[in-house]
Amino acid sequence: MACMIIAIDGPAASGKGTLGKRLAHHYGYRHLDTGVIYRAVAKALLDANIALTNEAAAVAVAMELDPEKFGHPELKTQRIGDAASVVSAIPRVREALVDFQRQFAAGPPGAVLDGRDIGTVICPDAEVKIFVVADPRVRARRRALEARARGETVDEEAVLADIIRRDERDQNRPVAPLRPAPDAHTLDNSKLDIDAGVRAAIAIVEAVRAGRKPAP
Ligand code: DC
Repeated sequence: MACMIIAIDGPAASGKGTLGKRLAHHYGYRHLDTGVIYRAVAKALLDANIALTNEAAAVAVAMELDPEKFGHPELKTQRIGDAASVVSAIPRVREALVDFQRQFAAGPPGAVLDGRDIGTVICPDAEVKIFVVADPRVRARRRALEARARGETVDEEAVLADIIRRDERDQNRPVAPLRPAPDAHTLDNSKLDIDAGVRAAIAIVEAVRAGRKPAP
């Protein structure tokens, strides 16, 4: 039997990264936060003072990415996230990153990938697909708290504006836009704390594995 793949998609700051990490831990699978890949491309361009819209340079960077650098703390910042949203709209950049993501997904014992197009483009045959949603205000509050915990000064209204702008860009780009796969199960994370969100996600996985329809 092929290895189990759990695909988690959703908008910025919906909590999909934390859910992905916790689900992977629960099942003993490997975890890939695919947003980090786009963030790494964006950071490399910004560091080299190259325009984010420079397609040839962005593709070259995407083809030479070093996964060892995916843990760099600066990748988490709002500035890099916003830049990642811009580079990720370039179709050839996305193409250059497909193989890496699929190879990661295919390895044993199983994998959890989170992003925007995992269930629709990267792993359309994933056994379980979860689409995480959360109210934009709740997402802005969580992002602001995380940024403050890192010692950054943040204006929550500016974070909200960034989240709305990013949703709009990610949902309306022509290639691999953010949207649920037809067979994805929606998890509304607005009112759940981390543990409750993880329990809800595990309930979805277990229901799908048992051939049951997950409870709404
Ligand atoms: O999930 P995140 O905030 O780390 O993602 C940063 C940006 O990268 C996001 O605005 C859109 C892009 N992205 C994407 O296009 N496809 C993915 N699978 C993951 C992220």
